[in-house]
Amino acid sequence: MRFSEHRRDFLARGTLLASATLGGLSPTRGVHAAGDETIQIALVGCGGRGCGAAANALSTTGPVKLVAVADIFENRLEGIAQRFGESFNERVELPPERVFLGFDTYRKAIDCLRPGDVVLLATPPVFRPLHVEYAVSKGVHVFMEKPFATDSPGTRRIQAAAKLADAKGVKIACGLMWRHCKARGALVERLRNGELGEIMHIRGFRMHSFAGRQPNPGESELAYQLRCFHEFDWAGANVFIDFCIHNIDCACWAKDAWPVSCIGLCGRSKPDIPGLMCDTYYHEFTFADGTHLTSHGLYPPGCFSMYSDFIHGTRGSAVLMDSLSAAKCRIYKNQLMIPENQTWAFDGPEPNPYQVEHDLFFEAIRKNLPYNEGHRAAEANFASLLGRAATYSGQIVTWDQITQSELKLVPDIDQMSWETKAPVQRGADGAWPYPIPGQTVIF
Ligand SMILES: NC(=O)c1ccc[n+]([C@@H]2O[C@H](COP(=O)([O-])OP(=O)(O)OC[C@H]3O[C@@H](n4cnc5c(N)ncnc54)[C@H](O)[C@@H]3O)[C@@H](O)[C@H]2O)c1
Repeated sequence: MRFSEHRRDFLARGTLLASATLGGLSPTRGVHAAGDETIQIALVGCGGRGCGAAANALSTTGPVKLVAVADIFENRLEGIAQRFGESFNERVELPPERVFLGFDTYRKAIDCLRPGDVVLLATPPVFRPLHVEYAVSKGVHVFMEKPFATDSPGTRRIQAAAKLADAKGVKIACGLMWRHCKARGALVERLRNGELGEIMHIRGFRMHSFAGRQPNPGESELAYQLRCFHEFDWAGANVFIDFCIHNIDCACWAKDAWPVSCIGLCGRSKPDIPGLMCDTYYHEFTFADGTHLTSHGLYPPGCFSMYSDFIHGTRGSAVLMDSLSAAKCRIYKNQLMIPENQTWAFDGPEPNPYQVEHDLFFEAIRKNLPYNEGHRAAEANFASLLGRAATYSGQIVTWDQITQSELKLVPDIDQMSWETKAPVQRGADGAWPYPIPGQTVIF
């Protein structure tokens, strides 16, 4: 969604708020001890999703203000105050001294906030644990994009930060926004009521062209690996996790369980794919009751495209997601998903779940409702890491192995700077060390 669209949304919400106030309703007071109801916002990671999340946050009801931004690449910060200002006017106050450049500037951006304010974390996921920890330690509420860490020790840091957030009353929202999708919510309620009987099998598909990106001329290896984090496991977890963590999370939500083990396959359609990337993935996750989730990732250009999830139960089947743009959830009386067999379809409006997740988060802050998605985010991250470990290693990997794994992909991410050597280096053949099932150990 473009800023201008958010602006229209914001104006519409502003009108609604004004009429609600005139009608005798008033927003909950006391967000800050000082009595100022404006929630200040800082953005760390000013790329596509970070700016999108900031636009979502600035489109919520009630007074909010974007007061600080941080990034490691200058071009991401150029003109950012003007761009946000044009769309959100008085909701943006970004003087040059609050536009921060550098690896340690997440601290400076968060230090601009008061306890009870909000930081939006949308860098490559390798930095998420340290950024979340710092925000929670300062009493700042967190919106964090998925994935949440790139290895098990990092995921345990997220778990620990979520536990501390519970103790401190800090709220955490996570970027697994499909759980706030109205259509999926209505379907899951029907599943819980037994409409499909026992769930026997869930199939997830995220298949579309992604060929990987090459370094720019003159770009350092570290800058390349951070800019193209999908291609490098240490920075972005891997392309399967980045794309399919949504499918896995939604499937496990539908099943109401996390998997106990996984086996999988991965491969490269050609030898010169950039980074560590495989571009073909298949996983079979097993749940404790012996049923399965199978997930498919296919990225070579020219292949069939599909972004859908299907559920198969003892009394019928369901579409959990139809396409990227809309869930279009529906239920069928048997396994043949044809219109004659359809028994239910969600027919309400499907508001943008990216906006809904921010609306709920800010509402929870203003009303001081319990809100901590950090624990579930960590579990979805472990489930995804389980898939990566199974495919790369060519072994059956268990939930216990992945949650207890001590393997760190970066020795000391907290100290990373432009002087740090890129965590993976090309071999003599010019290629990065891609996974070889049967040889690679990644848990
Ligand atoms: N929920 C969703 O559907 C969804 C959609 C897209 C992206 N994402 C997630 O959002 C995150 C960002 O993705 P994106 O597409 O915006 O990528 P992006 O490359 O456009 O943006 C990432 C930004 O972070 C900056 N950055 C890198 N390291 C940093 C550091 N240490 N400190 C501060 N800034 C740093 C980069 O310079 C860049 O501006 C990823 O984790 C991605 O998986 C989620």
